[in-house]
Amino acid sequence: MAQIVRGEYDRSKRLEVLTEADQERRNAIEATQSAIANQTEIADNRRDFLTIVVSFFGGLLTLATLYPVVRFILPPPKQKKEESSLVVGKTSDVPPNSGKIVVFNGQKLLVTNVGGEYKAISAVCTHLQCIVQWKKDEQLVWCACHNAKYSTDGEKISGPQPSGLGKFNIKVQDDNLVISKA
Ligand code: FES
Repeated sequence: MAQIVRGEYDRSKRLEVLTEADQERRNAIEATQSAIANQTEIADNRRDFLTIVVSFFGGLLTLATLYPVVRFILPPPKQKKEESSLVVGKTSDVPPNSGKIVVFNGQKLLVTNVGGEYKAISAVCTHLQCIVQWKKDEQLVWCACHNAKYSTDGEKISGPQPSGLGKFNIKVQDDNLVISKA
């Protein structure tokens, strides 16, 4: 390499210095760009999350607004017509000294036959709504849940129940058991 005399300009060294400075500057720029890219990604993620949250609550608000409108427009569901009297079975279904659960207008009833006399009462215990049954050995209506006892007329005999069971009319027509409201 040629010796440099005083005052002579070393072009190659100058280039080297410039190259190092350029490299540092380039590194700094790349670091800044990378940081900006990270920030942008975080901002995008935050924006996506906020979009989902806003859409969700917007959907809920729309549903809450539309629901009463739709309920108002649509006709109410038809009430099933209640029958005043219904055949619930044959006399042979309830032999003497027994009881049977039947359904009358969607309600569960207990039909009992004591000595050929049929009676119909609600089968839903007035304590906590268990279904009662005929207790043959004691000749009464019994709720097994908490030992409530009723007469065949539905009157309270003993137990935790607050009141008796509702009564229904029952009659025999051509061997059919016909129940109607009392
Ligand atoms: S539900 Fe019948 S006694 Fe409690």
